[in-house]
Amino acid sequence: MYILALVTQKGGSGKSTLSVGLAVAAMQRGERVALIEADAQGTISRWKGRREKPYPRVDCVTDPSEIEPVISRLKAEGVWLAIIDTAATNNALATRAIASADLCLIPARPSPADIEAAIPTLIATRRLDRRFAFILNQAPTRGGRLSEAATSLNSLGLLALPFIGQRNDHQDALGAGLGVTEYAPEGKASEEIAALWGWISERLIVESNDHGQAALKTAC
Ligand SMILES: Nc1ncnc2c1ncn2[C@@H]1O[C@H](COP(=O)(O)OP(=O)(O)OP(=O)(O)O)[C@@H](O)[C@H]1O
Ligand SMILES: [Mg+2]
Repeated sequence: MYILALVTQKGGSGKSTLSVGLAVAAMQRGERVALIEADAQGTISRWKGRREKPYPRVDCVTDPSEIEPVISRLKAEGVWLAIIDTAATNNALATRAIASADLCLIPARPSPADIEAAIPTLIATRRLDRRFAFILNQAPTRGGRLSEAATSLNSLGLLALPFIGQRNDHQDALGAGLGVTEYAPEGKASEEIAALWGWISERLIVESNDHGQAALKTAC
């Protein structure tokens, strides 16, 4: 089972929206997916409450010690991908989520405040020797401020593609208990999230295998 963690201490950067959007996009590609909510704010559980479909399942954790048992249970049930949504703080729960993840995704809006706020998360991922990628979220769909933000994030580490634009479909999908690829499948927001899932899945599978093979070689 692969594990993604959406992390950054900056509030409102899109952790929950992207967790849901990516979970549904992966499910639509035929994967067995679960969401783990590690944020007492409850955005994901409330989304799930509005959702009429049974999947993805949502497990809530409130204490760091609960993460491993939930992960073990999901693995045993044959879940292929677990996505952990964390709170906007560098608490012990977020740290445990980072430590459990195959890939940490750090969303940032194209503003200096969001990018600066991502740095403690970046430090935590490096300290815990986890792979990470930034996601530039809520990018203006017009205007030229993007390249500066993209350059800043690129200089700090890997930037996922494509950038995710500021589009109402994300908010409306969240409100309707849907993923954006279900809510407006032909829309631009849907296209971007599906492409982002493609980018992430490629890194998850290929690089995790490389990691595994490197570990195997070392062990031999
Ligand atoms: N790409 C986007 N386009 C438009 N609205 C977006 C986009 N991404 C997120 N939003 C909206 O921005 C707000 C904050 O997003 P979200 O709740 O996902 O952030 P968060 O990082 O989970 O916040 P918190 O830190 O409070 O948990 C929500 O209203 C959400 O619908
Ligand atoms: Mg959230």
